[in-house]
Amino acid sequence: MKAAVIGLQWGDEGKGKVVTYLSRRYDCVVRYSGGSNAGHTVDYGNFKMVHHLLPSADIKKQKMMYIGPGVVVDLDVLLEEIDQINNLIPESRSLLRISKQAHVVIPIYRDLDEKIDSSRANQIGTTRRGIGISYANRAMRCGLRLEDFETPARAESFLNEISRTWSIKFDVKMILDNLIEKYNKIRDLLIDSSEAVRVLKEKDLLFEGTQGVLLDVDMGTYPYVTSTNCSTTGIQPGFGYPVQVDKIFGVMKAYTTRVGEGPFPTELKDEVGENLRRLGSEYGATTRRPRRCGWLDLVLIKYAIETSACNALIMTKADILSGFEKIPICMGYKIGGKFYTQINNTAHLTEIEPVYEEIKGWKSLHSKEFDDFIYKIERELGLKFAYISTGPKIEEITEL
Ligand code: IMP
Repeated sequence: MKAAVIGLQWGDEGKGKVVTYLSRRYDCVVRYSGGSNAGHTVDYGNFKMVHHLLPSADIKKQKMMYIGPGVVVDLDVLLEEIDQINNLIPESRSLLRISKQAHVVIPIYRDLDEKIDSSRANQIGTTRRGIGISYANRAMRCGLRLEDFETPARAESFLNEISRTWSIKFDVKMILDNLIEKYNKIRDLLIDSSEAVRVLKEKDLLFEGTQGVLLDVDMGTYPYVTSTNCSTTGIQPGFGYPVQVDKIFGVMKAYTTRVGEGPFPTELKDEVGENLRRLGSEYGATTRRPRRCGWLDLVLIKYAIETSACNALIMTKADILSGFEKIPICMGYKIGGKFYTQINNTAHLTEIEPVYEEIKGWKSLHSKEFDDFIYKIERELGLKFAYISTGPKIEEITEL
């Protein structure tokens, strides 16, 4: 059995906790895209973990974790997280394997990321984690992969290539020594992608998506996106095998948030938006930036479902809306005087006017009003909810 959990909005839908909960039914959780730009918060009750790089598998249940070749690995972040899980649950480090073919985010990439984004006419508002630089170097074939440290001369030649490609000078020897020291600490966890596939392909795998469909480099709100296929389409290259995924869980928050720049049709720039931010603690798990907040947008969710082949829905953070008297839901867009309930691309989102339908709010998630909200969304989207998350803790989730 193979399944995936992906975000149907601009990330931060609460996927981390969902993955941890679902991971108990699978052998291994696989990260296939992104890097330490992700921030998946998992609240175990007696302790919390923010996973930037480690798959959000339930470490209490000894579930395996695999970081595939599509992930870009920042060794500082990785080492910190490995220490963290090992301190919480002794020996849990041994549950992790990392593809040797994964690219490495070297410290200078973070500065380059900041420099390039700040000099753009229209900033993307990246997480400054060097993610885009790492994927760019991969495409330009000058990026280092973990396996390159096995042969320091090979790693050194890539560092020289990076220096030439970007016309920047740095102390190659010092950077190399520093990276090798960190690499030696995880050497025993590395595996060739081909071997990992051999071991894992018959197992029950849960692929953990990062960010959300609307931040996917091809299908998202380009150019205000991340640098990878964080949607379902990234699974095969990011795992390194044409794996067939049967169940694709799409996670959607009961309202919408976004960090960084880019269009956001239902954004609330008033005190209602501030209220949502406060009630939902909407601050980036990686950068602590305040998230932009707005109402649920079913047009964009439909687009995300269609392009990701999502076949089951999961709702998160509906509890945050409890107590609102009326809840507007964006049902369609007015474009040039015409009304649309579906879009084919995201290029013109700044030129549309969202059209809302107001529904009655709820005081409790065990109320007719809340059930009506759920049925309405299911009808509009043509898909059923499989789970509803009702709070931050792993167990606060209901299977429908
Ligand atoms: P990058 O991935 O750091 O290059 O950032 C590109 C865009 O994706 C920016 O708008 C970021 O705020 C956004 N982004 C990256 N990772 C996440 C995430 O985990 N949650 C929400 N937004 C993200």
